[in-house]
Amino acid sequence: MNLKGGVGKTTLTTNLATCFAHAGYKVCIGDIDNSQLNSKKWKTQRGDTTPEIQVFGVSGYKSQTGFSPEEGKELAHTVKSLSKDYEIVILDGAPVFEELATWMILISDIVICPIQTSALDVWTMRNIKQKIDQLAIMGSAKEVFVLLNFYNSQRRLDKDIEQALTDLGMRIFKSRLSNRVAYKEAIIDGLGVVETKDRKAAEEMQALFEEIKAIISQN
Ligand SMILES: Nc1ncnc2c1ncn2[C@@H]1O[C@H](COP(=O)(O)OP(=O)(O)OP(=O)(O)O)[C@@H](O)[C@H]1O
Ligand SMILES: [Mg+2]
Repeated sequence: MNLKGGVGKTTLTTNLATCFAHAGYKVCIGDIDNSQLNSKKWKTQRGDTTPEIQVFGVSGYKSQTGFSPEEGKELAHTVKSLSKDYEIVILDGAPVFEELATWMILISDIVICPIQTSALDVWTMRNIKQKIDQLAIMGSAKEVFVLLNFYNSQRRLDKDIEQALTDLGMRIFKSRLSNRVAYKEAIIDGLGVVETKDRKAAEEMQALFEEIKAIISQN
């Protein structure tokens, strides 16, 4: 999740789901973003030579004006029933309402926030961190991780942003995703990058997957 758009939520969702499916997990995607339903569109492009991954519209929000407690309860209920049938439920978030972000944090075991390395993203992350801290005070401590997307270790800016996030007290995945055309192409083809010929993209995604798997197994 992220309160900002275009940071890589759907890219991460579809790629992680693919990794879990290949590793033999029963995994599904819950698409919250019902104005775009991009994960659902990805699924329609997916052929039948790759492991099947179900994508459910989980009706995150119904109006453009806000997210009500009733909608929150309905979302929680839907996700809970999915988690009875699937070992892993990955929610593809929508950058719309703060209230929706709160519900997403509450109903998840692990929250992953992909970001681009820009000051704007750090400011957004500060809001999310405050929200997480508030929820933790109320007894809902969650594992929250930042994923540096479009990362370039050669850029000083990227290093500075990394430091700013660490100073905020955010946990950052060791694995990062670079800016690669393979991510854009894979979405169009209904694939994860591990199913493409781009070895570098596949390797960095697999490394991220292993890191996440290790965190899950500790929980
Ligand atoms: N590491 C990457 N390298 C290259 N392109 C990327 C990468 N990550 C994401 N993209 C591209 O950036 C665009 C935005 O990514 P994506 O749709 O995953 O973001 P999002 O956070 O889901 O956006 P939205 O808020 O609109 O749902 C897409 O065109 C996607 O293909
Ligand atoms: Mg999206």
